[in-house]
Amino acid sequence: MSVPRYTVPSLTPEEGGQVAAILQERLHSLNDLHLTLKHVHWNVVGPHFIAVHEMIDPQVDAVRLMVDSIAERIATLGVAPVGTPGALVAARTWDDYALGRASAIAHLGALDEVYQGVIAAHRQAVADTEVLDVVTNDLLIGHLRELEQFHWFIRAHLESSGGDLSTNGARTELDAARDALGAS
Ligand SMILES: [Fe+2]
Repeated sequence: MSVPRYTVPSLTPEEGGQVAAILQERLHSLNDLHLTLKHVHWNVVGPHFIAVHEMIDPQVDAVRLMVDSIAERIATLGVAPVGTPGALVAARTWDDYALGRASAIAHLGALDEVYQGVIAAHRQAVADTEVLDVVTNDLLIGHLRELEQFHWFIRAHLESSGGDLSTNGARTELDAARDALGAS
C-alpha cells in the first residue's frame, strides 16, 4: 500500500492509502470486465447473436465510466491509479475468460460466473469502505446498482419460467457454459 503525501480532508494519509488500495483492486477488476465483455461481443455466434451482441455494448460503456470514476477517486485520494495491462495481469487473482467463439447461451452462462465474481468483490469493497470513507462507499454502491442489473440481464436468459437458474451450482465459467447449453 502506498501512503500519499496528502489525501482528502479529514482522512489521514494512511486511511487515504488504504481506501486507494481497495479501489485499485476494483479498477483492475472492472478494466478486466469491460475487456472481457468486448471479447464476448466479438465472439458470440449462433441463434440470439444480435440480441447478445447488442446487449453487451451499453454494458461496456457503463463499466468504462465506472473505471474512470474509480481511477479519478484514487487520484483524488492522492495516489496514482494504475491502469496498465501488465499491472492488471500481475495483480489479478482470477483466470482469463475461458471461452472463445461460442454460442450466445454458452457465453451467457460464463458471464453469469464473471458477474458473480465481480459483484461479490465489489460488495466486499463496499463493506470495507463503509467506515473508512463514505464518499468511496457511495461511489461503489452506485456501481453495484448497475452491475447487479446487468447481471440480471444475463441471468434472465438462463432462467426457467419456474425461476430456476440453469447455471445454479456451477463453479467455473466452462461448467456454467455447459449447464446453460444443457438447459437450452
Ligand atoms: Fe462492435
